[in-house]
Amino acid sequence: MSPADIVMQRIEVLGKISDEPQSLTRTFCSPAMRKASNQVARWMREAGMSVREDSIGNRIGRIPGNAAEVKTFLLGSHLDTVRDAGKFDGPLGILVGVACVEHLRQKKIQLPFAIEVVAFADEEGVRYQTAYLGSKVLAGNFPARDLKRIDANGVTMTDAISRYGGNPAQLESSRMESTRLVGYAEVHIEQGPVLEKNNLAVGVVSAIAGQTRGKINFIGRAGHAGTTPMNLRKDALCAAAEFILGVEHYAKKIPGLVATVGQLATLPGASNVIPARVHLSLDVRHQSDAKRNLACQHLERFARKIAQKRHVFAEWEIIQSTNSVPCLPGLSNLLAIATAEHQGKVLRLSSGAGHDAAVIAAIAPVAMLFVRCRGGVSHHPDESVKKADVRMAISVMNEFLQLLAKSK
Ligand code: GLV
Ligand code: MN
Ligand code: MN
Repeated sequence: MSPADIVMQRIEVLGKISDEPQSLTRTFCSPAMRKASNQVARWMREAGMSVREDSIGNRIGRIPGNAAEVKTFLLGSHLDTVRDAGKFDGPLGILVGVACVEHLRQKKIQLPFAIEVVAFADEEGVRYQTAYLGSKVLAGNFPARDLKRIDANGVTMTDAISRYGGNPAQLESSRMESTRLVGYAEVHIEQGPVLEKNNLAVGVVSAIAGQTRGKINFIGRAGHAGTTPMNLRKDALCAAAEFILGVEHYAKKIPGLVATVGQLATLPGASNVIPARVHLSLDVRHQSDAKRNLACQHLERFARKIAQKRHVFAEWEIIQSTNSVPCLPGLSNLLAIATAEHQGKVLRLSSGAGHDAAVIAAIAPVAMLFVRCRGGVSHHPDESVKKADVRMAISVMNEFLQLLAKSK
């Protein structure tokens, strides 16, 4: 089997490891994550790596470099998924990393740096609504207060990590030392239509957009749906509905702004009871951090205005705010040279999605290679990548590592 065949076959294997029977959902510290992580560890060992799991559950495989090795280069992506996910978002970057290591082993090539392939424990933030848990621990900027967050079943993050086999009291011990890192490169599906439109298998990422994730609660008063007159109600769901449509309306007016309410919980949740509480999530993104922050301020004012008008309360909490990150020229230029060699044309494109690379940028130079996906579809089970494009990504990454070695 060719390396691309192996990656595609492994994508299928991981695509079946899910916490839900009918769809692919694999969240932070879940039973499916344990199974997937153990499977990735077996593949890493087969490729000759020594394998460990850090305090938050990042799975890490390592091969040493040659005698001159003092530093480490990181490859990888995330192993968690969204709910009802596609198979490629995350695992592709991990498996291409393992394929690159396998290539080095087969060709008996030793680089002047060690390589570690990281399967990050959480990037999507589905379970605790705050993303990048794995990469934040590696970068040493994990906010300890997040350990108190609870999931939909009331399990604290501390307990989830302990039950998984991690060590929530020792997260700092997994921090990677910036001075020991050469950099980080992540292969990821584009999750957009640009490469497909340009008829290209891969492209080099120029920047990763920032994102803000918030939690908004509208708090009204429960009441009898049959006896409470319309003008005496404090209906939290009607306030939330007005807010959600307002978010859409506002985002459509501001060029480049995208804003999404993706989660909604209504309490007490009975057809004959006026909704007393609504909890909703908000995700706001723009290539410009200043415009994203302005948008958040505007939306907070908007939520409070609705609450006042409707005689309910609004609670507004920003759970996560990540600035946009440029992919610096050094590594990206090497990636562009490798792309030119194998594909001819080099397209640079920015990422609207968040990636582990955005967090690792705090401790090391980062670069990303995007791979074309059918119709630009992602965060959906229809996510699809061609084997030929995976082959291209592997060739580009093998070449990139050679170029990087020569530049050291
Ligand atoms: C990750 O997929 C994100 O951008 O939300
Ligand atoms: Mn991803
Ligand atoms: Mn994703």
